[in-house]
Amino acid sequence: MAFTITVNGKTHSVDVDGDTPLLWVLRDVLGMTGTKFGCGTALCGACTVHVNGVPTRSCVTPVDSVGSSKITTIEAIGSTPAGAKIQKTWLDREVVQCGYCQSGQIMSASALLASNPRPTDSEIDDAMSGNMCRCGTYVRIREAIKQAAQSTGQGG
Ligand code: FES
Ligand code: FES
Repeated sequence: MAFTITVNGKTHSVDVDGDTPLLWVLRDVLGMTGTKFGCGTALCGACTVHVNGVPTRSCVTPVDSVGSSKITTIEAIGSTPAGAKIQKTWLDREVVQCGYCQSGQIMSASALLASNPRPTDSEIDDAMSGNMCRCGTYVRIREAIKQAAQSTGQGG
């Protein structure tokens, strides 16, 4: 069945079963491989995208549930104000180790900063608690989020 979805400001018609996870549509149909597959069961956060600005696990999001929502992926998050700040401080703080989880980390962090320009430590922990990193970059992630918040005065 054909579905029209909006990803990073562009509409795409995709011919897949309605229960196909959005993650597979992004990666296998649209060729956007920045969003990663980790667990496939909403437990690790590697597949996080934004659906109307809300961090969402694309591995458990059927494409037929998306409708006309605006989907944003790691490929375009740098063009949003919060995403650009997060990506800059991620580089400044050298957050990344193996990198596998980092698309999802950046998507969750960007959503946090966009909705809460000055998050407390506990708010950061809450927002990031669903994103696992087996390399243990959690301390640098928190530092990078705090630096991004301080650099703005307003998250954007
Ligand atoms: S791959 Fe979706 S949460 Fe792990
Ligand atoms: S940087 Fe390796 S899993 Fe997070």
